[in-house]
Amino acid sequence: MARTLARKLFVKSYGCQMNVYDSARMADVLAPHGYERVDHAEDADLLILNTCHIREKAAEKVYSELGRLRRLKAKDGAGGAMIAVAGCVAQAESEELVRRAPHVDIVVGPQTYHRLPELIARATGPERHAVDTEFPVEPKFDHLPGEAEPRGPTAFVTVQEGCDKFCAFCVVPYTRGSEYSRPAADVIAETRRLVAAGAREITLLGQNVNAYHGAALGGRGEWRLGRLIRELAEIDRLERIRYTTSHPRDMDADLAAAHGEVPQLMPFLHLPVQSGSDRVLAKMNRGHRVAEYLDIVEGLRRARGDIALSSDFIVGHPGETDDDFYQTLELARTVGFAQAYSFKYSRRPGTPASVQTEQVPETVKSERLAELQSLLAAQQLSFNRRFEGDAVTVLFDRRGTGSDQIAGRSPHMQAVHVDCADAGEAARGMGAIADVFIAEAHANSLAGRLAAAMPGSGTHSA
Ligand code: 5AD
Ligand code: SF4
Repeated sequence: MARTLARKLFVKSYGCQMNVYDSARMADVLAPHGYERVDHAEDADLLILNTCHIREKAAEKVYSELGRLRRLKAKDGAGGAMIAVAGCVAQAESEELVRRAPHVDIVVGPQTYHRLPELIARATGPERHAVDTEFPVEPKFDHLPGEAEPRGPTAFVTVQEGCDKFCAFCVVPYTRGSEYSRPAADVIAETRRLVAAGAREITLLGQNVNAYHGAALGGRGEWRLGRLIRELAEIDRLERIRYTTSHPRDMDADLAAAHGEVPQLMPFLHLPVQSGSDRVLAKMNRGHRVAEYLDIVEGLRRARGDIALSSDFIVGHPGETDDDFYQTLELARTVGFAQAYSFKYSRRPGTPASVQTEQVPETVKSERLAELQSLLAAQQLSFNRRFEGDAVTVLFDRRGTGSDQIAGRSPHMQAVHVDCADAGEAARGMGAIADVFIAEAHANSLAGRLAAAMPGSGTHSA
C-alpha cells in the first residue's frame, strides 16, 4: 500500500450517538494512514458501515445497503472499493454477515476498530477478508489517536461504554460488552482538546452513562458522573454539558443535585422508563418500579424546576396486557414528557425476552404504538408552545435549508430555526450562542428571530 497516496473514506453511521462518536474516531484512526473523509460512497476507496443491532429493522437496513453497495465492487468481487462493516451488527452477526454478504472485506466490532489499519492490510493480502470481534482486555481508548478532524461547536465524548444490566429485550450487553468507564483524566483531556478546537457543548456518552465510575483525577478512588461533570464545568469556554443515556437505577443524589448547582449542565434529561407497569418492568428486568421512577423525576424537578424530561418506551413487550399499556399512558400523563421515543418490541435473537411466551401480536403492538405516540406528540407540542413569545438561548450548530438560515438547540434540546438578515449573518452565527425570540412552536421544532444582530466578523475575539 502506498502510504503517501491520498485515500478516500466514506463512513455511514446508523443508530445511536455512540456510533456517531465511533465513526469520527475511526476516521481519526485512519487519517495518519492517508484516508480523508468524503461525503459520497461512490468516491470512496474504503466504505465503513457503522451499524446498529437494537431492533430487527435497524439490522436489516444494513443488509439492504450492502446489497446496493455491491455495484462498487469489481465483477470478481476482488477489486474496487473495500467494504467494512463495523458496529453492533458486526459484533452480533459476523458469521451471518460473511455468508449473506460475501463482498464484505472487513468485519470489525465496536471494541476493536483501533485495529482498522491492520485489518485493511490483512484484507488487501492473500486472505482477502479480515474479521475482528474480540473484546480485548485493554480498552480501545488506550490506542486511539487524537482527533484528526474538527468536531464543530457540539461534540460527543464517550465516557462509559457497555452494559451489565441485561434488560430482557436488549442486545447491548452482548454487542457492546460489560461496563467500562474511562479514567476522568482521559475524559478531561479529550474535552479540553475539543473545546480548544471550538466546541462549546459537550455531550457525555455512555450506554449507561450515569453508571460512570472512572478512575478519579489524581488516581485515588473513583468518580461518579456528578463529580466528573463538576470538574468539566471548570473548563473555560465550555458553555454547555449534557449526558446520555441514563438508567433510573443509577440516578444518584449528587448527579440530581448537579442539575441545580452546575449552570453549564443543561436542563434536559433523557431518562428511559420503557414501561409504566411494574409487572412489565419486572419482566423487562429493569430493576426498579414505577414509583421509584416518579421519585427520581420529583427529585430532579426539586433540584432544577425547569428540567425537561425525555424517555424511551417499548410497547408490546412479551406479557404486556391492555391494562399494563394503560399504565404506561398513565405514567406519561403523570410525568409530561418534553420529548420521547417509542418503539414496538422487536424480538432479538439471544435475548431472554425473545423466548418468553406471551408474545404480543403485531397488530396489537401497532395500535398501542399509535396511541402512545399521539399522546407523546401532543405533550411535545404543548411543551414547545410554552416558549412562544419567549426568548431562548440557542447554540447554533447547523446551516438551515436556505443560505440565510441557521439552526441550533435550545437548553431544553429543542431544534430552533432562525432566519438571519442575510447569508453573511448566518455564516457568522455558526458556533455562536445567542438569544432567539420564539415566534412559532411546531411539533418538533421552534422558529424565531435573533434578539440582536450577530456581531460583525471583525468583532469576534479568539
Ligand atoms: N425492541 C424494541 N425497542 C428496543 N429498545 C432496545 N431494545 C429493543 C427491542 N428489542 C429500545 C429501548 C432503548 C432504546 C435505545 O431502544 O427503548 O431504550
Ligand atoms: Fe439495553 Fe437495558 Fe443496558 Fe439500556 S440498560 S443498554 S436497555 S440492557
